[in-house]
Amino acid sequence: MCSKKIEAPPDRYSPFALFVIFVASIGGFLFGYHAAITSGILDILAETFHLELFQKGFLISILLLGGIAGALLSGPMADKWGRKLLLLINAAFFIIGSILLATAKTYVMFLIARFISGFGVGLASVLVPIYLAEVAPPHYRGRFVCLYQMMITIGIVVAYGVNALFAHSEGWRFVLGLSFIPAVLQLITVILIPESPSWLIEKRHLKRAAQAFSKLRRDVEWKTHISEIESTVKAQVKRGLDKHVIYVVLIGLGLSIFQQITGINTIIFYAPTIFKTSGAVSAESALISTLIVGIANCLATLVAIWLVDKVGRRILLLIGVFGMTLSLIALGLSSKIEGGQQIALISTIAYVIGFAISLGPVTWVVLSEIFPLHIRGMAMGLALFFNWLFNYIVSLTFLLLIESWGLSWTFLFYALICIGCFAFIYFLIPETKGKSLEEIAKLFTRKKLKI
Ligand code: BGC
Repeated sequence: MCSKKIEAPPDRYSPFALFVIFVASIGGFLFGYHAAITSGILDILAETFHLELFQKGFLISILLLGGIAGALLSGPMADKWGRKLLLLINAAFFIIGSILLATAKTYVMFLIARFISGFGVGLASVLVPIYLAEVAPPHYRGRFVCLYQMMITIGIVVAYGVNALFAHSEGWRFVLGLSFIPAVLQLITVILIPESPSWLIEKRHLKRAAQAFSKLRRDVEWKTHISEIESTVKAQVKRGLDKHVIYVVLIGLGLSIFQQITGINTIIFYAPTIFKTSGAVSAESALISTLIVGIANCLATLVAIWLVDKVGRRILLLIGVFGMTLSLIALGLSSKIEGGQQIALISTIAYVIGFAISLGPVTWVVLSEIFPLHIRGMAMGLALFFNWLFNYIVSLTFLLLIESWGLSWTFLFYALICIGCFAFIYFLIPETKGKSLEEIAKLFTRKKLKI
């Protein structure tokens, strides 16, 4: 039996919905900003706090430990207390984190501050995609959720830019303190956005759900949507954690892990090091080249926003991961070739573009839509727990790998993982374009998944 597709005319969203997306995705901006900001001020921090090599590494990676904790705790809380309250708590973490980062007097204080910010980033990574998917009409859901990735990439570019402009001696306090502004903006504006209608329906607040839908959408399809969500929730709760649900969760975990182990953050965190080591650019222009990588990441995400609801999730994922594989092979071989420095630079940019049209945004889209509502927060939290954990492992091991295997073999190793990722997507990820979240839930309950 084939799942019913929602036919044209597609649902329309209201201008208020655009405001809601913007507000929710500020969390994405702060995610990107915090992740990328230390790459440019690391040496200054090391001087200020008199750090050894290991302490420097820990200073970067403690953000990821915060992310792991935030992701793990946020899911069950989002299921219990709702998405909106958690978004407010999220903003509070970002505010406290930014104040403590800018005023830290000692290394330990700095670590605590960065852990708190990381916790905020972990919360955001779970909450924002779920919230966006739940407020979006099915035909635009991919786009809505991709905007979150867009905000992450904007956060990264702004961090690179701010670094290039202000990262000198005491400037680091200003650079870190700047994140206070979007965090406060998030806190104030989240008060104005509605609770997720799906969550309200699950908790039987039908009147509030209807109010939220009527503000978000111009069409009236949501009226039938409410009863559809209600009956799906009832069926899901009855099923609890049956084998189909576990299967979906495992697929989500797999995709979430692949997003990290295909190596994106080796580039995002270490681009200047890679460029200097491969001799692609001089030390001075390494920051500028990094900025170019960040901009490519950001612009290519626009392609995903444009196409994700037209061509679908699978095609984008497959094309992007294919491109990432080829780029990593080129990057790996470049250091073996005479004059391969330019190839290194170009293939790094091509790799990032591949990621930005596929695993970057589309992972969030797929994760936000495949989990059944009654465990959505928890499952997303678990998927993101592994995402942050593997982010941590990759970041921690990358420099060691380069040291023992060299740049070439390290990138060829990541290329191999990309091939595994391609096969995983090809065989296991179903197309979910244009289907309502409730239809997707049904799609996964069929014995044999149609992909
Ligand atoms: C990933 C991050 C990565 C970023 C780069 C996100 O989707 O989760 O780990 O740094 O993309 O754009």
